[in-house]
Amino acid sequence: MEINDIIINRRSHFQKEFNGEIAPDEMISQLLEFSQWAPSHKLTLPWHFMVYKNESKIHLFDAIRSSIKSTSSDPIKLEKMAHFESPISHIIAIILEPSLKVPEWEEIASLGAGIQNVYLALLQYPKFGGYWSTGLQANSEEIRNFLGLSPTEIHYGYFIIGGINELRTKSQRPKAIINWI
Ligand SMILES: Cc1cc2nc3c(=O)[nH]c(=O)nc-3n(C[C@H](O)[C@H](O)[C@H](O)COP(=O)(O)O)c2cc1C
Repeated sequence: MEINDIIINRRSHFQKEFNGEIAPDEMISQLLEFSQWAPSHKLTLPWHFMVYKNESKIHLFDAIRSSIKSTSSDPIKLEKMAHFESPISHIIAIILEPSLKVPEWEEIASLGAGIQNVYLALLQYPKFGGYWSTGLQANSEEIRNFLGLSPTEIHYGYFIIGGINELRTKSQRPKAIINWI
């Protein structure tokens, strides 16, 4: 694929689209390696990943469900979460620890570029899709404890990967707002 098509065809594929296929661990490692090629002021690259699959994935979702229960009694939300993990292959917690060498916003911006690289690289595996989720109790007290984060680490959600039957590429975007001065 040409670079233009790669950028435009990149899509999020969500949990409801996953078919239960398990991705090879090597694929996950290779995808995450691309995050290191993000632009990064002073090359601080201040993030790391925690990968959950199989049993550890179930334990993570038990913690997510427990966290939801402690903050909400919405039966619809809880029902939706009952077997949420089943079709997911790998769920990757994204952790950022600000280096304090550059402003924090620059490191968050760099993280976004790193995750975009993961998204783009995923296109080389058309049988798998994924998305960045900042839901699922990300950075809540209970999930922070479960992940074993130090007070200076921030949980910026998850990258969630699963097998897909159909690679979706269509989307619409408004034109960029550009003022030529
Ligand atoms: C920082 C960030 C957080 C996101 N969090 C969620 C989320 O919690 N739940 C969700 O369904 N999608 C989430 N998304 C994915 C967006 O919904 C998705 O990018 C958007 O629908 C556009 O679709 P596309 O990625 O296919 O272009 C997130 C995306 C970003 C960049």
